Amino acid sequence: MNTAGDNAAVSEETKRQYEFIQKARALVNKRSDAIGRKLTFYVRTFGCQMNFLGSEKLVGILKEIGYVEAKSEEADFVLYNTCTVRENANNKVYGRLGVLHGIKRKNPKMKIALCGCMMQEPTVVDTIQKTYPFVDLVFGTHNIYKLPELFVTMWEAGGQIIDIWDSYKDIVEDLPAERKYRFKSGVNIMYGCNNFCTYCIVPYVRGRERSRNPLDILREIERLAADGVVEVMLLGQNVNSYGKTLDTKITFAGLLKEVTQIDGIERIRFMTSHPKDLSDELIEVMAGSDKICKHLHLPLQSGSTRLLSLMNRHYEKEDYLRLTDKIRAAMPDIALTTDIIVGFPGETEEDFNETMRVVEQVRYDSAFTFIYSKRTGTPAAKWTTQIPEDVVQRRFDRLLAAVQRIGAEKAEKFTGTIQKVLVEQINKQDKTLLTGRMDNNSVVHFPGDESLIGKIVDVELVWCKGFYYMGRKSEK
Ligand code: SAH
Ligand code: SF4
Ligand code: F3S
Repeated sequence: MNTAGDNAAVSEETKRQYEFIQKARALVNKRSDAIGRKLTFYVRTFGCQMNFLGSEKLVGILKEIGYVEAKSEEADFVLYNTCTVRENANNKVYGRLGVLHGIKRKNPKMKIALCGCMMQEPTVVDTIQKTYPFVDLVFGTHNIYKLPELFVTMWEAGGQIIDIWDSYKDIVEDLPAERKYRFKSGVNIMYGCNNFCTYCIVPYVRGRERSRNPLDILREIERLAADGVVEVMLLGQNVNSYGKTLDTKITFAGLLKEVTQIDGIERIRFMTSHPKDLSDELIEVMAGSDKICKHLHLPLQSGSTRLLSLMNRHYEKEDYLRLTDKIRAAMPDIALTTDIIVGFPGETEEDFNETMRVVEQVRYDSAFTFIYSKRTGTPAAKWTTQIPEDVVQRRFDRLLAAVQRIGAEKAEKFTGTIQKVLVEQINKQDKTLLTGRMDNNSVVHFPGDESLIGKIVDVELVWCKGFYYMGRKSEK
């Protein structure tokens, strides 16, 4: 795993990629000089927080190479970091490719690249080769750090360059990255997933679970703190199994405790927790630190024990309910959010009603609800018990209505209270307002000026608008 020996190899690879960055920069500069302007790039990200974090690395590399960021796909280099968790994620990419082709016709020297989870599927790569020959570069999830090298190959060789690996080789640290916000950042603590939920493609496209070395993680967070970051979000598909693949003996709760000791870090979030491995130690560490946000995203997927077993989730409805009771007993004000799938193969009306009952009982602050999407290569895709679309839609609408009603009721309860809000940006619609987030992740808008961006301020919640609040800076 990620031992000291591996680390030496890893920094060798980092050095190599820096050499390619120099090479790429020379190529880009030459072309800029020839056309009398800077070359521009645009990175579009689909999918989850991990992909967004990956894109910060891609953007960092492209800026090092000498590109400047464009506001739209009318750019000299367009890169899509793709997702394939549900069919509609794929459809969006294919739809956009048509648009990109149009842009490339006007600017034939434009380069188009695709990377990310969707590219790990052989059928997708086939389609790109056959139907989208104007795409210049295709790479996957395991070799994202190789962008500098692939870029040079693409520039020098021409034609369509495809480089997809079946599995990861090393965790490559210390490449450039461009943070979207100066005061908050995601931090990968692990990659991949070993859970093989029967509906899910992630383990196939992201590979086996591996944890980053705790010292690398802590060093990165220290550097971020020194650079003005006050909030970190620790990311992994199943953070509760952090450390299991390492030689060093460390648990997720142990890592979290260490992060709370880092000066300058005022808020710590993490995602995602699998209910099957959420430990008492984690609840204790969370309850014991003001720095750890009182928000837990705990995907339920289904409230039916029968379905949970078919999904390979390794917990029963009762385990889940006991767990949420325990969490709430330790942290009464914690925000609980979840993911739920509707229309999983074999879902009966009774199974669905069980889900509705759990939703009514747990009373989530918010929930992402998904219609089951058949993913080729996963076990559930082959089952003959697929549910008709109209039935799924009816169930989905019922669930969404319940989730929204409960979420609004829960949000209303905070009206009139004073909350700590990390100010993120000027409001996009109304420039006199600032937008920020509470500890429990709720969005708050309130009057204020730019100087507060990146600061944690006390805000009185004046008015609840369902899923966000309007507030005013508290003078108390
Ligand atoms: N590792 C996280 C989830 C990552 S995917 C976890 O286990 O909680 C994010 C969410 O997408 C999942 O929680 C699930 O609700 C949803 N999802 C995954 N595969 C899906 C599929 N085939 N159809 C519909 N929703 C799916
Ligand atoms: Fe997918 Fe399950 Fe892994 Fe989450 S835990 S990424 S749902 S296989
Ligand atoms: Fe999508 Fe890959 Fe994330 S499939 S949800 S971008 S891990």
